[in-house]
Amino acid sequence: MTWPDSSSSGIGSQMAFGRGKVILLGEHGVVYGHPAVAAGLDRGVRAQAAPGPEDRMLIEAWELSVKPSAEAEPALARAFAGALLGLPAGRPALEVRCDVELPAGAGLGCSAALGVAVIGAIDEALDIQRDPASLQARSLEWERIFHGDPSGIDNAVAATGGVIRFSKDEGTRALPIARPLHLVIAHSGETSSTSEMVSAVARQRDRNPTRVDKVFQGISALVLNAERAIADGDHRKLGQLLDLNHALLASLMLSTPHLEALVSRARAEGARGAKLTGAGGGGCMLALVDEERVDHVREGLVSMEAEVIIAEVSA
Ligand code: PMV
Repeated sequence: MTWPDSSSSGIGSQMAFGRGKVILLGEHGVVYGHPAVAAGLDRGVRAQAAPGPEDRMLIEAWELSVKPSAEAEPALARAFAGALLGLPAGRPALEVRCDVELPAGAGLGCSAALGVAVIGAIDEALDIQRDPASLQARSLEWERIFHGDPSGIDNAVAATGGVIRFSKDEGTRALPIARPLHLVIAHSGETSSTSEMVSAVARQRDRNPTRVDKVFQGISALVLNAERAIADGDHRKLGQLLDLNHALLASLMLSTPHLEALVSRARAEGARGAKLTGAGGGGCMLALVDEERVDHVREGLVSMEAEVIIAEVSA
């Protein structure tokens, strides 16, 4: 088989996109098989692969040029090596250029978005048709390099967008949304490691499984109610559920003083509800806000010197 040259055929000229995400409810419980609800963002990672002199991944925003390697470090080199495994023999060397629009270590699913974009770009360049289940499996392998034993929610929503319900057993289901969700997302400025936060929760669960499992059952019930609230367009109720979810995550010591300050400020400025999102220990806060109050809440958070992203999520 001969491989087409991208410059003459146009193959490889399209950008693949992996979405960033926010977990609306259910983080951490989802690692233990409970359901969670996540929303895809319009920003994420765009990647483009084309034949080049050697296999290489270029991430301009991080001033990185990464060659694939099976070595333990850096993780990106190992993940890239994994993404190149099993490709058809005789393929050209590939240069994958990535445009990253998300902060890393912020709970916005940057690594999963990168994985989905890079795998998609490689498939695009080599004209590989991959079904959603295969993309899901391959991007989960990518995520494992960064996060140990991820639930799979980040890479699921990175590929699909919209609002999804995800559980390990039942996989991904798109949720009906009665009305768009207006989200104000603020970065605490603290980065955190998902695998460290997941391990910290696992240690608490080893010490006191009854307490931690009760917290997860509580979060599960909130997720179920949130699905209904989203389907009914009941944002007052959804906001209350976000607040309750935040309290349960804080009881697992996943919040920080800075996240607490952002959550309180968002509520004080009129958000329907606010919580930490993602692994916690830093990263981002998300607030559900009525459209007409978005600017107001944003200004309050910006005055605390937080970086703020606004997202409108619909089906
Ligand atoms: O990668 P983050 O920070 O968005 O967190 C992922 C959510 C967790 O439930 C904490 C971990 C997982 O694998 O689902």
